[in-house]
Amino acid sequence: MEVPRSVGELTETLRQGSYLADRGLATALFVALSLNRPILLEGEVGVGKTEVAKVMASVFGRELIRLQCYEGIDTNQALYEWDYARQMLHIRALSEQQVADSDAVDKLFGPKFLLERPLLKAVRAGDQAVLLIDEIDRADDEFEAFLLEVLSDFQISIPEIGTVKAESPPLVVLTSNRTRELHDALKRRCLYHWIGYPAAEREVDIVLIREPGVPAALARKVVAAVQRLRELDLAKPPGVAETIDWARTLAFLGASDLDAGYAQDTLGAVVKDRDDLEVVRDNLAEITSGAS
Ligand SMILES: Nc1ncnc2c1ncn2[C@@H]1O[C@H](COP(=O)(O)OP(=O)(O)OP(=O)(O)O)[C@@H](O)[C@H]1O
Ligand SMILES: [Mg+2]
Repeated sequence: MEVPRSVGELTETLRQGSYLADRGLATALFVALSLNRPILLEGEVGVGKTEVAKVMASVFGRELIRLQCYEGIDTNQALYEWDYARQMLHIRALSEQQVADSDAVDKLFGPKFLLERPLLKAVRAGDQAVLLIDEIDRADDEFEAFLLEVLSDFQISIPEIGTVKAESPPLVVLTSNRTRELHDALKRRCLYHWIGYPAAEREVDIVLIREPGVPAALARKVVAAVQRLRELDLAKPPGVAETIDWARTLAFLGASDLDAGYAQDTLGAVVKDRDDLEVVRDNLAEITSGAS
């Protein structure tokens, strides 16, 4: 699909992919897409950071290439690796005379034995892809510096093969849960958008678009209760994902309303920390007395 012509058009396209973006997020994505800028999404847990990259890929018919970051991730896992196992098999199959021939050895480091990892794949796919660099805050400093290099020119050199460059870069979406502060240099390269919890009305719409089987009145009650939970000082405040889960669970059990009894029985869908459970149990009546 073509790049959208306006923020409104992009918002509508995302909606068709069952994602509701507010104006700020839609604008940031529109600019990222139009001006080829990476976009860094930070926000609370479960507010749709990862999902928006997936939906962008799906609505624009692009391939989603995901680089999941974790502690200790290194460049090999992100760029490319040599397929040692196949190289070994190949060497074994060679005759002594062939091994002496330097050509045969060179071939061992040719395209046939190269394993593409997400970044190389994304550079090759260019604007046919959305590159999701998920949870960048989990990777360490050196990896971040290395990413910065790749993002600045979308060019990867493989000594044995040559340089691969993206004609037009992929849409790059980075996400972070802010377990640590990212470097200014990386932030400077990216557009930045903070995704907060949605307002109640939008959250109801999100529940209904994701779980059309949930009665609207129940969705409103659940959202009101979740928004109250977020005001409590919980260790793990519920994200939008939990709201959806809770509504789905209640609807599945046949609840048409959220009362303290139903809430008590289904709390595990929304509160996932033992200490939090105790705080919430003590306040259940108040939490569930929300709008209907
Ligand atoms: N604006 C939205 N429109 C539609 N669905 C949404 C929206 N926000 C969140 N969701 C839903 O919430 C779920 C969780 O979102 P997602 O996994 O993207 O959160 P996240 O911010 O990446 O969380 P984490 O920090 O845990 O990785 C999604 O699967 C999606 O169903
Ligand atoms: Mg995520």
